[in-house]
Amino acid sequence: NDPRIMRIASSMRVISDFPKPGFKFKDISTLLLDPKAFKDTVDLFVQRYAGMDIAVVAGVEARGFIFGTPIALAIGAKFVPLRKPRKLPGEVISEKYILEYGTDCLEMHIEAVEPGERALVVDDLVATGGTLGAAINLLERAGAEVVECACVIELPHLKGRQKLNGKPLYVLVESD
Ligand code: PRP
Ligand code: MG
Repeated sequence: NDPRIMRIASSMRVISDFPKPGFKFKDISTLLLDPKAFKDTVDLFVQRYAGMDIAVVAGVEARGFIFGTPIALAIGAKFVPLRKPRKLPGEVISEKYILEYGTDCLEMHIEAVEPGERALVVDDLVATGGTLGAAINLLERAGAEVVECACVIELPHLKGRQKLNGKPLYVLVESD
């Protein structure tokens, strides 16, 4: 019943039949149009993760970049982009995953993370959990210790938490 959470939840909208008929797309772009809701979103994550000795914030392209970068800056962690294939110029490791709307792949620069570093994974939304699962695998393959995943919205009926290899997931809002 935190009024900040209620404002965040009501600032998002649902668009029917996008990107395909039958889907209900959770659109965070309207949250970004409300500067107070956007700031409260970042602040809630920063309050939780400041003091947790996080060295790495890994943000998932594209919408995870929006929330991950301000969190990284505020807690004094480095930001590591987890990108769609063939975007990163250096040596990468790759993880394929199954998405709600097909299959995809994430890549990370191998030298971006040092073994033993404590990492937080940030994305906007967890649906099936395939994306976060791939992100966790990339970081663990690079030797990082994934402390938690943080998302603005969870769709609990899709049971994405079960794909996170036992890692904790922190979300601000649940949606059907
Ligand atoms: C969406 C969303 C999450 C992911 C969640 O990203 O931003 O990253 O899907 O789905 P999952 O839990 O079923 O894996 P999308 O790949 O559509 O691309 P975008 O962030 O680049 O818009
Ligand atoms: Mg995404």
